[in-house]
Order: sequence, then structure tokens, then C-alpha cells
Amino acid sequence: MVKVAPSVLSADFTDLKNDIKDVEQGGAKWLHYDVMDGHFVPNISFGADILKQISKITDLYLDVHLMVSDPAFYADRFIAAGADLITFHIEAMDSVESIKALIDHLHEKGVKAGLSIKPGTKVDAIKNFLDDIDLVLVMSVEPGFGGQSFMSGSLDKIRALNEREHQYLIEVDGGINAETGKSCVEAGVDVLVAGSYVFNAEDRKERIASLL
Ligand code: DX5
Ligand code: ZN
Repeated sequence: MVKVAPSVLSADFTDLKNDIKDVEQGGAKWLHYDVMDGHFVPNISFGADILKQISKITDLYLDVHLMVSDPAFYADRFIAAGADLITFHIEAMDSVESIKALIDHLHEKGVKAGLSIKPGTKVDAIKNFLDDIDLVLVMSVEPGFGGQSFMSGSLDKIRALNEREHQYLIEVDGGINAETGKSCVEAGVDVLVAGSYVFNAEDRKERIASLL
């Protein structure tokens, strides 16, 4: 069963609680939380304090996507704030040891561990970690901003990840709508992140349903 993870980045921040309730009642099971540090990506979003407030008003599974240069430094703050899953970028890490250590640390703290690859990074780059992680996040846009167009090269990555023996979930992020979402599901994706497609619509329930 495919899951939809609406991305908070595209929510109305003057009415955040209602927007979150709206997607929860609209059939979403996950909430995607994009953390940007203005360094790993050229944009700044929000940090752990806002996640903590969100965790108090929703039962959605909190899917934290760290687009930061030093995920090991920040991970504990998001765990304390209620994250269920923390995904970090392979491109932010400088050694195999540091990647393994962060995956182990997340598991010791009782949260799931995800690894993400940018459009220019091959699946091969994470092959040594695939047996240890709970989720692979395939970026289908350059990370940093909502509302960009889907890059179809991500479909081959999803297929390759799906074809191997695996226990991890496959998630895709960027430019997802009914059409691109369908292609990703056919390629074997488990979780569709959707920001602008869900939040920029009047009827969020209808948009979520169109992805399932
Ligand atoms: C981009 C973020 C995405 C973003 C997706 O860096 O990781 O999660 O919110 O937004 P849409 O669905 O509008 O492409
Ligand atoms: Zn994201």
C-alpha cells in the first residue's frame, strides 16, 4: 500500500494547524518535514522547535528530511522533538564510518534511519548501507525548494532499488503529482512526498486520493 507524505514546506504557515489536520483527515499517514540549513541547500526552512509543536497536534508519522551539512550534529534535536524517521543525505557525509555511526545512533535512539540521494548521485553510492537502513529517499528534484518539475531519471533509480532483495522502503521527493506519482508507483515506490500538489489545492483529500 502506497503512502502519501504531504510536505509541510508548502503548507500555509499562518494556518499550519488546520493545514496539518486537513491532510490528516484527507488520508495522509505521514508528514514530510524538510529541514534546510542554507548551507547544504541554498534555502532555510525550519528547525526542531517547530517540529516539537507539530508533534503535539498530530498523530501523523513524522518523516524528517535533513538537508543540512552536519546531520550528525542536529539529529538528536529532531529525535527529541518527536521524529519517527530521520533521513540524511549521503552527499553531506565524508566517510563510510560516519554514515554507519549515524545509522547506528538513530537506531539506538529508537528512530528509523533513511538515506537520501540527490538527482546527480547514483544508487551505487549507497549500496554499502542498503542492508542497514529503513528507507531510501530518491530526490526527483534538486533539493532546496518546493514546486519544481519532476526529473524522470529518478524512475530508473526507483526500479533499481526495487529490483534488489530489500527490506527498506523507497520514497520519492519532488515534483510529484497524479501523473508522475503513478510512474513512481509503477517503478516500485512505497512513499510519495507531495508538497505543492497537495497543499496548493482547495481539496487536499481529492489530491491525496489521486496519488493512491
Ligand atoms: C525539496 C523538498 C521537497 C519539497 C517537495 O527540497 O525536499 O520535500 O517540499 O515539494 P513539491 O512536491 O512541491 O515538489
Ligand atoms: Zn523533502
